[in-house]
Amino acid sequence: MSELTLKGLTFILLISILLCSLAPQPCNARRGKHWRQSRGASDSLTKKKSKYHGSGGSHHLGSLSKHKPPPTPPATKKKTPTPSPPKGDDNDSSTTFNVLHFGAKGDGTTDDTKAFEAAWAAACKVEASKIVVPSNYEFFVGPVSFSGPFCQQNIVFQLDGTIIAPTSFKNWGSAPFQWLLFTKLRGITIQGSGTIDGRGSVWWKDSPLDDPLDDETKFLVPITNISYQNPPTPALRFYGSFKVTVTGIRILNSPQCHLKFDNCIGVEVYNMSVLSPGDSPNTDGIHLQNSKDVVIHGTGLACGDDCISIQTGCTNVYIHNVNCGPGHGISIGSLGKDNTKACVSNITVRDIVMHNTMNGVRIKTWQGGSGSVQGVLFSNIQVSEVELPIVIDQFYCDKRTCTNHTSAVALSGVTYEKIRGTYTVKPVHLACSDNLPCVDVTLTKIELKPLQERYHLYGPFCWQTFGELSTPTIPPIDCLQIGKPSSNHIQSNHDAC
Ligand SMILES: *[C@@H]1O[C@H](CO)[C@@H](O)[C@H](O)[C@H]1NC(C)=O
Ligand SMILES: *[C@@H]1O[C@H](CO)[C@@H](O)[C@H](O)[C@H]1NC(C)=O
Ligand SMILES: *[C@@H]1O[C@H](CO)[C@@H](O)[C@H](O)[C@H]1NC(C)=O
Ligand SMILES: *[C@@H]1O[C@H](CO)[C@@H](O)[C@H](O)[C@H]1NC(C)=O
Ligand SMILES: *[C@@H]1O[C@H](CO)[C@@H](O)[C@H](O)[C@H]1NC(C)=O
Repeated sequence: MSELTLKGLTFILLISILLCSLAPQPCNARRGKHWRQSRGASDSLTKKKSKYHGSGGSHHLGSLSKHKPPPTPPATKKKTPTPSPPKGDDNDSSTTFNVLHFGAKGDGTTDDTKAFEAAWAAACKVEASKIVVPSNYEFFVGPVSFSGPFCQQNIVFQLDGTIIAPTSFKNWGSAPFQWLLFTKLRGITIQGSGTIDGRGSVWWKDSPLDDPLDDETKFLVPITNISYQNPPTPALRFYGSFKVTVTGIRILNSPQCHLKFDNCIGVEVYNMSVLSPGDSPNTDGIHLQNSKDVVIHGTGLACGDDCISIQTGCTNVYIHNVNCGPGHGISIGSLGKDNTKACVSNITVRDIVMHNTMNGVRIKTWQGGSGSVQGVLFSNIQVSEVELPIVIDQFYCDKRTCTNHTSAVALSGVTYEKIRGTYTVKPVHLACSDNLPCVDVTLTKIELKPLQERYHLYGPFCWQTFGELSTPTIPPIDCLQIGKPSSNHIQSNHDAC
């Protein structure tokens, strides 16, 4: 009997929900309101953007010193949390969501994860909304997914305070693979003068001294308990999103990579910094993968691995006015691991200052891969105390044994111009595959001097590298083979990408 009544009730309820959702008036009215809000917001967004593009003009060496250096993050100072009641002035509009109003304490010890999730849930529903993480507070936050795809567009994450990561495994729960994750959003901006502190030192293991030609000691960690050995990574990650902007903030001491973009279209990173010790293992600065239309400028990157790492699937990437060091330099790759296909094209890296890095600009691919790297310009790279300023390594391998293969990721159209400064090991190392030589490699205005003349240093090395020298170089790079390889060297799968 009672079961029947329940069924009847459920039926009536369903019908009324259906009728409500079919009524057109309220929906249209709401949409109209959001539309008005969004126009205003996106107008101002466009204005702001074009202003930045306009100001990034001069590209020659002299101008670099005139550029305001990226903010050098001051040493981590212990914040004294001031958990005073939230100020009322920052939620004067229905589009602003302050985490303090959602129960965040910001005292550096209380777990504020739930409050961040609640603030996000509210902001997600409103177009051009703003989440506020106020200054002078330190928010202890575990892994959070700020995820679309059902969120409104153009959300701003105003980060003026500090967000700190858990340092013990119990807070990472079942998702130890990222910390602050933004996915499937259309228009997401992280801005402000705040800090994301990954407190990663607890995860860093001592790594043996790096071999300059094979830095990837990173894969050496004996895996006895994967979830225990692999710290959460990366600190801040964007996945599958359009129009992503990161500016103003600094990211410290991530357990591994600091800032990662994968499957994103339209990324701008500027006026921000990354800081972790030069000997912290696996701590890439910015990691790009399967992303296109990416601009990175006005950033200072100091870390223990690649300052910027460009992985497969990246195209139309423009990196300029970046300071790198310590770190392993700016790298394309490694590509083609485990016989995979990799495609990278149209990459420009210019007006870069590198100090005390392992590599300068590097392309690294594994034997056995396929696909191609095409159209790369490295221009005006000022190096000082860099071990290996110019590197192509098509025999890239970690410390496991590697064998040579007939296939490789094809490299063509790589230009180096105005690479100047001092090195400590070898100025130029271009090692290309026997079966697939590198073609159209152009070197111009290269001036690389050993830091200390008295040590025996290596001269330039080239293997199966074809192209041209447009100007005399210092030192002379006689090993480059001028012109094109004979046709029997051209691999057939050039259409792979
Ligand atoms: C700010 O938002 C909270 C929570 O929505 C609300 O209780 C408070 O009255 C708001 N303050 C102002 C000044 O609007
Ligand atoms: C891995 O390490 C974690 C943390 O110490 C532990 O809780 C877990 O039981 C370990 N898992 C295995 C399979 O050993
Ligand atoms: C850069 O970011 C800082 C906050 O970290 C901000 O104070 C400054 O105004 C920004 N500069 C530019 C040119 O946007
Ligand atoms: C290459 O990338 C730049 C941005 O760095 C872009 O302006 C240009 O249109 C791209 N070229 C092609 C052929 O797509
Ligand atoms: C792979 O080929 C290169 C270039 O010919 C050679 O120097 C290297 O020793 C080879 N490696 C192996 C493992 O055979």
